[in-house]
Amino acid sequence: MKTTIMKATDLCKSFAVGGRQNHVLNRVNLEIYGGDFTVIMGSSGAGKSTLLYVLSGMDRPTGGEVCYRDRVISHLDEKDMASLRAQEFGFVFQQAHLVSNLTLFENVAVTGYLDKRQSEKAVRERTAQLLQRMDIAEAAERLPSQVSGGEAQRAAVARAIINDPGIIFADEPTGALNKRNTREVLDIMTQLNENGQNILMVTHDMKAAVRATRLLYLEDGKVIGEMTMPPYQKEEAKRREKQVEAWLSSMEW
Ligand SMILES: Nc1ncnc2c1ncn2[C@@H]1O[C@H](COP(=O)(O)OP(=O)(O)OP(=O)(O)O)[C@@H](O)[C@H]1O
Ligand SMILES: [Mg+2]
Repeated sequence: MKTTIMKATDLCKSFAVGGRQNHVLNRVNLEIYGGDFTVIMGSSGAGKSTLLYVLSGMDRPTGGEVCYRDRVISHLDEKDMASLRAQEFGFVFQQAHLVSNLTLFENVAVTGYLDKRQSEKAVRERTAQLLQRMDIAEAAERLPSQVSGGEAQRAAVARAIINDPGIIFADEPTGALNKRNTREVLDIMTQLNENGQNILMVTHDMKAAVRATRLLYLEDGKVIGEMTMPPYQKEEAKRREKQVEAWLSSMEW
């Protein structure tokens, strides 16, 4: 039995553009289950990033609600939302968005300090462990401008998990990476998921999509398709790619 960790009910998001409303999310209903590596796909402009922002509390819905583990979060005030995000949610974007005048170590640790449940010493120890695990310990004292895009993105993944979040939200995390760095970041995310980390990722990238245990397809502000897959295994990558391609073409991707 899967547990529901996040639930969107009749979720709407509209933007006022040139005096008229653009309905980007149109009564989205979905559940995210514990243990899954959930991937959202859909054509450009379908509302994938908007959905991710509204689910993660970075933006507010204009209708409907979002629940996270039995708690309605879409109506929390800014302060409660910020502390929920700091403790429960991790974020990875297309660009690493590291703070340019902090070292990789500091970039990761600073997010750890935001979570008041951990001592600074514990945060520093965990930061060092994570940088090791991401294979960037040698770059720990360098500034973002002194590391490669892949190293920066691995630091961003370390930052996303420093507070042991209940869920990682990732929007095109491999969108700016070359092939090798893409594989490295995806391997890390796959391994995190194998160890129980819940992940919700938006992507266009087939190499990223095959890592999913559950795929959702968003079109015209609604979830119109879904497919589940067993946990990723490298030996099956080709077969999975075919399976995802067939599913996507049935969605008219
Ligand atoms: N702040 C905003 N103000 C007005 N319109 C917006 C805003 N943010 C997004 N939109 C519009 O909402 C629609 C969906 O945008 P969104 O970024 O969610 O799409 P997406 O599915 O992530 O696309 P892509 O695959 O290109 O990243 C687009 O038409 C976009 O122009
Ligand atoms: Mg987007």
